[in-house]
Amino acid sequence: MKQQDRTRRAYVETYGCQMNVSDGELMEGILAERGYEIVGAPEEADVVLVNTCAIREHAEQRVLGRVSQLGALKKARPEMVLGVTGCMAQRMGESLLEGQGKVDLVMGPDGYRGLPQALDALQAPPAGTFTGANPTRRSRQLAVLDLNLGENYQGLEQRRAEGASAWIPIQRGCDHRCTFCIVPYVRGPEKNRSAEEILGEVRGLVERGVSDVTLLGQTVNSYQWEGWAFPRLLRDVARVDGIRRVWFTSPHPNDVTPELVEVMASEPAVCEQLHLPAQSGNNPTLKRMLRRYTVESFLEKVDLVRSAVPDIALSTDIIVGFPGESDEAYQDTLHLMRTVRFDDAFTYKYSQREGTPATRLPAEQFVDPDVAQRRLEELIDLRLEVQAEINQSEVGRVEEVLVEKIARQEGQILGRTRRNKVVAFPGEPDLIGQYLHVTLDRTTGTTFVGTQVGQPSLAHVR
Ligand code: SAH
Ligand code: F3S
Repeated sequence: MKQQDRTRRAYVETYGCQMNVSDGELMEGILAERGYEIVGAPEEADVVLVNTCAIREHAEQRVLGRVSQLGALKKARPEMVLGVTGCMAQRMGESLLEGQGKVDLVMGPDGYRGLPQALDALQAPPAGTFTGANPTRRSRQLAVLDLNLGENYQGLEQRRAEGASAWIPIQRGCDHRCTFCIVPYVRGPEKNRSAEEILGEVRGLVERGVSDVTLLGQTVNSYQWEGWAFPRLLRDVARVDGIRRVWFTSPHPNDVTPELVEVMASEPAVCEQLHLPAQSGNNPTLKRMLRRYTVESFLEKVDLVRSAVPDIALSTDIIVGFPGESDEAYQDTLHLMRTVRFDDAFTYKYSQREGTPATRLPAEQFVDPDVAQRRLEELIDLRLEVQAEINQSEVGRVEEVLVEKIARQEGQILGRTRRNKVVAFPGEPDLIGQYLHVTLDRTTGTTFVGTQVGQPSLAHVR
């Protein structure tokens, strides 16, 4: 049977941040629209796409291992197309095509609109000239790596899993140049989507059963579209009939304004949670990172948010071992963690990314990897300690949870509170997608064990 005679099947495997997950849904949407069947395993697919992340070296190493694993699948099925998409594809470009002819396509984050055409070109027999002994071997490879200043994927539908929650990309790219960060180079400058289109999409999602949405952008709160600044968009989304929960990530601290916190405080649907990446608690380090704020102005933003929404749960991102980070500078970061008392923190060791400004800092400033590792471990310990104290103080509360999935423990389901805390409690899978009230009976330190209000408590059962 010729390939074109039956439905082609595609499989997309995504790594990295929520924006990338959302891009994976976009690729699936574009392919489904073109008649592809989206399948759940690479072995079932004619087209296998690995949607990659470039943020740290470790993330890339993992994906490269996976790509060569998938490349091995092609030995038995030479007609399979293997593509690498996303930020690592953009960063590494054509060099990804070199490894023993396994990868057929590399495509950066601005190329997805043309994905079906690229796949058609790869799957078509080479025009007229092909006389090779092995008719299934393709002679072509494709690299689609142009950054497109106008591409915000207006008018295209994502393919989302059924459920109550959805990611909504409202902005692509980033206009900042934090000196450690590869994102502006692989995703280009900031591009915002039309507010009308975003609101239309939210209304459409409500009709399909969605009530919980997360607005996504690299500096999501710098969103601007004609008369809409971010606070207005947030308010309008929160007011869409049927929307019960709105989140947004990641905001830049500088764009946390009185207008924004006013909307957060006054719109019932906006959840009591904010991710506020600090990166460091030391001013000279923040300056070398080009974060464009000081510890003092960061703390003012924290106060602003907490004065408007006193019960807000805060999370952050921290990098340790950035070039030039002395032990005193690192102590300042620990001090910031103790001062703010974040509910959660994503902690990273600095990873050098080729082409970013930080790589040009003086060689003697680079921090010894063992020192960075020790700092990371100590920071994680502090995060866990603070988190456990905060969570312990919340035991006994009754919280609204949205049930998300089955828990690992038999007979338990997992829900998320409006403060982004995970609670396991006894319940049937048919409760997935429902909003329930749950008592937080105890904490593991990072998550909770609870009981649905009105149900007998099983908190003592391990
Ligand atoms: N504004 C973006 C940031 C993307 S990167 C967002 O939407 O989240 C996510 C986090 O990865 C950053 O906040 C930073 O803490 C971390 N990170 C980025 N580049 C890094 C690098 N080179 N080394 C270590 N961590 C890094
Ligand atoms: Fe990266 Fe800084 Fe933008 S962390 S995504 S350059 S705000």
